[in-house]
Amino acid sequence: MDKQAGFLESEFERAVSARATADDTVVPLAGALRTLETLRERERRFRELLGALPAAVYTTDAAGRLTYYNEAATELWGHRPTPGSTEWCGSWKLYWPDGTPMPHGDCPMAVALREDRPVRGMEAICERPDGTRVPFIPYPTPLHDEAGRLVGAVNMLVDITERKRAEERQHLMVRELHHRVKNTLATVQAIMGSTARSATSIEDFQTALIGRIGVLAKTHILLSDDSRPVSFSDILHSELDAFDDGSDGRVSLTGPPVEIAAQAAVPLGLAMHELTTNAAKYGALSVYGGKVDVTWSETITASSRQLNFDWVESGGPTVTLPTRQGFGSRLLQFVLPGQIQAKVSIDYRPEGIRVHGTLPLPKKAAD
Ligand SMILES: Nc1ncnc2c1ncn2[C@@H]1O[C@H](COP(=O)(O)OP(=O)(O)OP(=O)(O)O)[C@@H](O)[C@H]1O
Ligand SMILES: [Mg+2]
Repeated sequence: MDKQAGFLESEFERAVSARATADDTVVPLAGALRTLETLRERERRFRELLGALPAAVYTTDAAGRLTYYNEAATELWGHRPTPGSTEWCGSWKLYWPDGTPMPHGDCPMAVALREDRPVRGMEAICERPDGTRVPFIPYPTPLHDEAGRLVGAVNMLVDITERKRAEERQHLMVRELHHRVKNTLATVQAIMGSTARSATSIEDFQTALIGRIGVLAKTHILLSDDSRPVSFSDILHSELDAFDDGSDGRVSLTGPPVEIAAQAAVPLGLAMHELTTNAAKYGALSVYGGKVDVTWSETITASSRQLNFDWVESGGPTVTLPTRQGFGSRLLQFVLPGQIQAKVSIDYRPEGIRVHGTLPLPKKAAD
């Protein structure tokens, strides 16, 4: 490190000679030695201070040759450049933020020394000898002696890897948000169209629309709660809990925890809302003593995962084959297969409807 301390030593020598000239020969020898000791101690502390900084710091002489660098600089560069011969910057290779190579002679430190001005607001990428890259912000600042002559420069390199990662994550989330807003608006449009087609009166339209938009909102709230993943059971509970009057098994939900991906949770939530609404309008939940049983399981094979569910109603009015197809059955039979590749079959049995469905799930990352 002795050689790297050259810049500091020359600073120190300049300080001693400046002091000697100012005081001339009237300073007694003991006093001069004390001054030397003090300056040495100051230099030691200064070096220790720079060495302890977590930011990479280095200095050059007026010609741009490296005179000092701290440990953080060797970590950022991934090697120890030779002081005195390495010019401008200790980076093995340099790149502009867009990835095109940056010649060392064009680096921010070279500009700062050539134009004798601090350079700010630039970003660059350092490539280490092992090929890893570190994006950083440099702060090259020229240094002058008392007469104002350029004697060198100091540079601080701030590693912005974490900030870049956070920016990328944010971009991804903004893209995802745009995608979701677009999809949600399309869903609202579809809901309005279908509700208008199947509603028999304005009041009917209003009630159905409020309920359907409400369930969309509920599922979104469920999705935005980062503290826990959305499970199939959460979706069912958010729909059916309102109908569970505590009487013997009016609503029974049985199955293992199955996590539902965000893009499938909204259509699946809507489907469960339609089944619940139908059960309340025509089926088991429309009379006292009727029951809804939902059971589900997860099938895992070497190449796939799948949710299987059965919705079974009993104790309701006798069911007859429907004469009309509204939003509910259209959503189950046409929208779900298209949007989330779910397959749903509805069996209108006299003792109560039975719905069987399967939904392909993404493979777990750890599988
Ligand atoms: N749980 C159920 N029990 C008995 N009959 C049902 C049940 N669910 C649906 N049906 C019958 O199937 C028909 C079609 O249901 P669907 O949900 O498609 O339309 P809708 O409920 O009449 O109208 P919309 O869903 O558009 O409000 C219903 O009109 C009803 O006759
Ligand atoms: Mg319906």
